Amino acid sequence: MRVLGINAIFHDPAAALVVDGRVVAAAEEERFSRRKHGKRPVPFSAWELPELSAAWCLASAGIDVDALDAVAYSFDPGLCRDAADLGLSDPWDWLRVDYARRAPQFLAAALPGLDPEKVRFVPHHVAHAASAGLAAPPAGDDTAVLVLDGRGEVASHLAGVYRDGRLSPLYSQQLPHSLGLLYEDLTRHLGFLHSSDEYKVMALASYGQPRHLGQLRDLVRVTDDGGFQVERIDWSSMAKAVAAGGELAEEHADLASSVQVRLEEVILDLSRWLYDASGGATTLAMAGGVALNCVANARLAAEGPYRDVWVQPAAGDSGTALGAALHVAGELGDRSAPMAGADLGRGWSEEELEAELRRAALPYTRPASIAAEAARVLADNGIVAWYQGRSEYGPRALGHRSLLAHPGDPDTTRRMNDVKGREQFRPIAPMVRAERFAELFDGVYPSPYMLFVHRVKPEWRDRIPAVTHVDGTARVQTVHAETEPVVAELLAEFERRTGLPVVVNTSLNTAGRPMVDTPREAMELFGSAPVDLLALGPFAVHRGALGGAR
Ligand SMILES: [Fe+2]
Repeated sequence: MRVLGINAIFHDPAAALVVDGRVVAAAEEERFSRRKHGKRPVPFSAWELPELSAAWCLASAGIDVDALDAVAYSFDPGLCRDAADLGLSDPWDWLRVDYARRAPQFLAAALPGLDPEKVRFVPHHVAHAASAGLAAPPAGDDTAVLVLDGRGEVASHLAGVYRDGRLSPLYSQQLPHSLGLLYEDLTRHLGFLHSSDEYKVMALASYGQPRHLGQLRDLVRVTDDGGFQVERIDWSSMAKAVAAGGELAEEHADLASSVQVRLEEVILDLSRWLYDASGGATTLAMAGGVALNCVANARLAAEGPYRDVWVQPAAGDSGTALGAALHVAGELGDRSAPMAGADLGRGWSEEELEAELRRAALPYTRPASIAAEAARVLADNGIVAWYQGRSEYGPRALGHRSLLAHPGDPDTTRRMNDVKGREQFRPIAPMVRAERFAELFDGVYPSPYMLFVHRVKPEWRDRIPAVTHVDGTARVQTVHAETEPVVAELLAEFERRTGLPVVVNTSLNTAGRPMVDTPREAMELFGSAPVDLLALGPFAVHRGALGGAR
């Protein structure tokens, strides 16, 4: 069966193609349109579809629109209720629902040849759940699944269990109670962009003290049935509102810390309830925007009842394109195959990369090993734009569209945040050779998708200061030679030169822009930022070879 998944309803529009239960392509629209998050998260934009990524998914697999068995849309307008009845102040919500109802016609216009009858609506949180429960590595027994989101049609959360590829829902928290909307509200109060900058609030939290935890325990409570309640919160009583981009003070870090800790406590309680209700499933798979909170994920893995915790790398709404497609493929009789990696986006052949370099008239070489060449530049404290293979699905750069640097120089954080134009309190993350992980870090292993924070062992903190956050943690990506041979080689060569099995890895983009996707965008970034080496597939472009001042 050939099923195209579409996420379009709230934000992060994306498309995914599942063939015979296996995902063959998945990409976010922002990588094509170059508009961060694809669109604004407002009802007026709900009609906008991931047209470019959907067309690419089909073209990359050589599948015509009329050969699709179904299109899975990750929102079911038939489940919706009036926003006021749900306790939401969203006067234009009806418009969003109206657009969703017409999605089959809109899709048929965007994908000429599509029969609108082939479009199936998948409940939003069922799509999130499938992106976790059906895409996770095989568990050997039942897989508990926890969706923690801002909102779907009428709910914000879903707890359930997958048995033989079928979801049994156990509890779903109805709106307006929502952990995701709670975090979004705080994000807004702190002067950041909601549905976008929540990870900045999480980073800010590590600078504060949870002074308001007692109050938040009264305001955010778990219930006996596996759900929770969130009262209306007067944020200004705890810290004054910050204007967009305004100055942050201790009181704001303390507020962020308080909400973060309460969120962690609630997630732990929900996961324990689910463990009991699922009959003791040993694996928990998670998705939903809140599952991108890698501090909470790490605490859940450490203190929760599960042997394994797996988080969908595209845990935000983009991942519902994949989940919806997997769910419908299951309904049509296909058995889902676990996803092998997040490199599901666009890729270019060596011939195509070389043609792009020639067209740009850039002086390039083809070293014997691009990994060794990059390691040499990194060991000399240079910055490397690393462009290899297919691009990542989800918000993290995982060694395919990455900006790399030396972890041993304390000044690296400032330089990288300058290159990217980011706030200086934002941490930068390490990738580490899998075989050396345990020597340097404590915490979840393996961690190929960078969705957990880890504790840096005290004896290593001074050796890798650029990736050690103020609280002694790091958000680690483990690199395994079987799945990422070129990155593993780079790390091995860097260690041979420096004694450090770790390299700084951040996404290949500049502030406010989506991650680089095409070779041309990689060259544009290289030309506009103080990057020393562009490693474009097997080809090297050195800053020094360009001539002129550095
Ligand atoms: Fe969602």
